[in-house]
Amino acid sequence: MNRHEARLLRRGNPWLHALLRASRLAPPIGRLPRVGWLVTDPVLAREVLNDHRSFSMGGEGGVGHMWGQLFGHEMAGLFDGAAHTEVRTAARDLFTEQAAAELVERTQGAHHRALAARLADGREADLAAETRVLAGRLVADLLGLELGAEDAPYAELFATGERLASLALGTTSSTELPEGKLAEAAELAGRLTAAVPAAYAEAGADTILGRCRELGFSLDLTRGLATLLAIAGTETGASGTARTVALLHDSGQHRLLLREPSLLPNAVREGLRVATPAPVIGRHVAADTTVGGRRLRAGERVMVLTYRANNDAGPFDITRDYIPQTRQLWFGAGRHLCLGAAVARTQVARMLETLTAAGRPWRITAREPARRVLVPSYRSLRVRLE
Ligand code: HEM
Repeated sequence: MNRHEARLLRRGNPWLHALLRASRLAPPIGRLPRVGWLVTDPVLAREVLNDHRSFSMGGEGGVGHMWGQLFGHEMAGLFDGAAHTEVRTAARDLFTEQAAAELVERTQGAHHRALAARLADGREADLAAETRVLAGRLVADLLGLELGAEDAPYAELFATGERLASLALGTTSSTELPEGKLAEAAELAGRLTAAVPAAYAEAGADTILGRCRELGFSLDLTRGLATLLAIAGTETGASGTARTVALLHDSGQHRLLLREPSLLPNAVREGLRVATPAPVIGRHVAADTTVGGRRLRAGERVMVLTYRANNDAGPFDITRDYIPQTRQLWFGAGRHLCLGAAVARTQVARMLETLTAAGRPWRITAREPARRVLVPSYRSLRVRLE
């Protein structure tokens, strides 16, 4: 593991860092007392994520369990079964490559142009802060919020989402949220979705909120879905972008990318593989089953260590070919495969275009990891063009 990446994991989530270190010598699937089953092998990981009969999100150990406590049974029911298929099908055309390109350009294009000009001028930029504002701009659009031209409200929006996600930090051993945390989470979700009722009433059917209305979803369910989108897409996207920038720099491969711009999609893929911003995916065992020769019992819990499964293929290398074993495991697999994958890839690519626009390599002048966050990330990553 690159030493900067190791530091991000240690500072961001010491428990996760220890788990990932301990799992270096772990078998493809094994059992850890008080935690549950750990899966480290990419092929077995996909087997678990594709087996929707034996593994669910809704029970203890799954993310649906937490969201159900926040937004009610209707919301919990959306993670599994027919309701989930219905939502995915209805939202599909809003998350295609084309839709992602339009969304990123509409919400981030002007910001990127200004950033490219500042960098070309020889000025320094904190790319971690920039990615938070950019993620905030994108999410504001999805939430129907109109926050104006300045950066600050978008950074604040990001911070609200980050606080909401961090409430889940203490839930690595259980996904049952205590009363105090529930009240705080409900307050934060209320702030994030302040504009949802108005947008729900008026938004066109080509927006997420308008689409929820057309589908007959209740306002509460729509608020829940909007919050889920805001959380799913912010920290992961910001983390993946800043870390890809740092990995390119630390490996010296930013110079190769400048010489061979056609490697940009590879750089995005490798950055997301090595960073794996969602390092663990939890599932509840819904029915007895066998994985990799081990017998898993209903009611147990599985943690798919995607970070380990992705990183065992080797260090960051933008000349590396697509890896058939891992595929896109950083976006999960199966029915819950990241809905925002195209948005995420486009965002990272857009940042790399901004950084390479002037044709000069960048230098990292200072950096600081974020502390106690759900998604390991940079708090600051100061960059200047050479
Ligand atoms: C680098 C950035 C991102 C990474 C690494 C990432 C990763 C993931 C992963 C691993 C899952 C599956 C979780 C599971 O199976 O339990 C997921 C689901 C999801 N992601 Fe992303 N994500 C990213 C960005 C985004 C963005 C930008 C959006 C929205 C604009 C988004 C929206 C979603 C949604 C809605 C789901 C739930 C899908 C479902 O349950 O059907 N993600 N993401």
